[in-house]
Amino acid sequence: MNEATAVSVEKQPLSVEWIGGVDGYLRLIDQTLLPTRLEYVVCRDVETVWEAIKQLRVRGAPAIGIAAAMGLVLGVREFADRSASELRDRVLAIAERLRTSRPTAVNLSWALARLERAAQEPADSAAEIVERLLDQAKRIRDEDREMCAAIGRLGAPLIKDGAGVLTHCNAGALATADFGTALAVLFHAHAEGKRITAYVDETRPLLQGSRLTAWELQRRGVPVVLLCDSMAGLVMRQRKIDAVVVGADRIAANGDVANKIGTYALAVLAQAHGIPFYVAAPSSTFDLSVPSGADIPIEIRDPREVTHGFGMPTAPEGIDVYNPAFDVTPAELISALITERAVIRPPFEGTLATTLSSRP
Ligand code: MRU
Repeated sequence: MNEATAVSVEKQPLSVEWIGGVDGYLRLIDQTLLPTRLEYVVCRDVETVWEAIKQLRVRGAPAIGIAAAMGLVLGVREFADRSASELRDRVLAIAERLRTSRPTAVNLSWALARLERAAQEPADSAAEIVERLLDQAKRIRDEDREMCAAIGRLGAPLIKDGAGVLTHCNAGALATADFGTALAVLFHAHAEGKRITAYVDETRPLLQGSRLTAWELQRRGVPVVLLCDSMAGLVMRQRKIDAVVVGADRIAANGDVANKIGTYALAVLAQAHGIPFYVAAPSSTFDLSVPSGADIPIEIRDPREVTHGFGMPTAPEGIDVYNPAFDVTPAELISALITERAVIRPPFEGTLATTLSSRP
């Protein structure tokens, strides 16, 4: 089943790419190998994609949405010579399978739902639907790239010259089609000539901050200081931090934000120190069907990520472990949501739908 091949990558790699036509393949940067090895995983079947999402070879809300959409194409294309109705049944089954890979980031189910809708539109043949699905998956990727660029443009004015900016996990190019969300803001501010310093939480237990964010920022020439997660309070008290900018996996109708575990603690610390706390996310990360963060499913991951995180046991054998991958930051701790359409200030309740449906 899992036909994964690793090959080395050129200088400016994209985390998720479709190579070739409808008989082509999905190419992912294997993010579990970074920062020491920059290699691709080649996916030609849906189970390889499912495993890549589950094991965080591809990760970050928008990137897993794009990968799942392209994975759906891989899972249905062998039905291109069947009837349109058989193909449509197959689309539903494969989407159902891919939805089980990770529950919290809404981009995944949002992208799959978009392809399911496209499959229902009238067609002369199953092959035509498969072509359409690939086209739709690529469109999701292209739109994400544009949304991330817009987030960077709109968010950069929030960052002052000379600012220290704390971020958590990885909401960079690796987590999206390109540029990132939180990191797009930093990249844009840096490109405008602002002298910023990025403070990056290592992000226990899987170290997306130190492995991925520090790597991305360093490659793009943004001054970066790596911190253990537990140092955030001290650096805020020392006045090194002027703003916190993080990404999101799902934003509820009331503005509550699910993001990488540890985000909530940062928001509490930011409020205690009078530091603005910003969340950068494209409209595909909003789930207005969910009234509040209490309704967002939180992924619980393998205890071994906590007990064997550094390739060796770091806890006594048989210990009980709690390993939620995400937490929810209540809307009242958030200074603004940076979207591709606008910077949205509180109160969020009732205003999100209008802003997100307005013209960018
Ligand atoms: O478990 P991960 O690494 O997929 O978690 C990712 C995050 O929490 C990101 O901050 C979020 O998906 C936004 S990515 C633009």
